[in-house]
Amino acid sequence: MEAKWLDLGPTTQIEAGMAATLPVIGGEEIAVFHTMRGEFYALVNKCPHRQGPLSQGIVHGDSVTCPLHNWRISLKSGQVLGDDEGCVPTIPLKIDCGRIYLLREAVVAPRPADGPAAEPQAA
Ligand code: FES
Repeated sequence: MEAKWLDLGPTTQIEAGMAATLPVIGGEEIAVFHTMRGEFYALVNKCPHRQGPLSQGIVHGDSVTCPLHNWRISLKSGQVLGDDEGCVPTIPLKIDCGRIYLLREAVVAPRPADGPAAEPQAA
C-alpha cells in the first residue's frame, strides 16, 4: 500500500529555530520543528517527563530543551538525552517542493468501530 502524506503547507510558515503545533482530534498534538540548519522534524508535543509542551522549548542543533524542567530531547529519535530517560514518539515527515508533509497514518488515529476517523486540524 502506498503511503499517504498529509500536506501541512509551505516550509516558510515555520521560522528557523521555531516550532508549530498541529492539533489532532482524538489524538496527541504534534509539534513540527524547524532547526537552524534547515531541517524539519515532528514529535508528539508532550515531554516524557511531565507532558511539557515541547513546541515551546528551545531548539538547538537537532534537539529541543523542554520549557518546564530543561530535559533535552533528540528531534531525530525522540530519545531523552543526558542522564534522564524517556522517549517521545516521532512522526515521519518529508519536505517536497518546499512543502511539509507528515505520514497520514501516523497522525490520523485509526477509525473506531462506531465513529469517524480522527482528523488533524490546521494549526
Ligand atoms: S515536563 Fe519536560 S522536563 Fe519536565
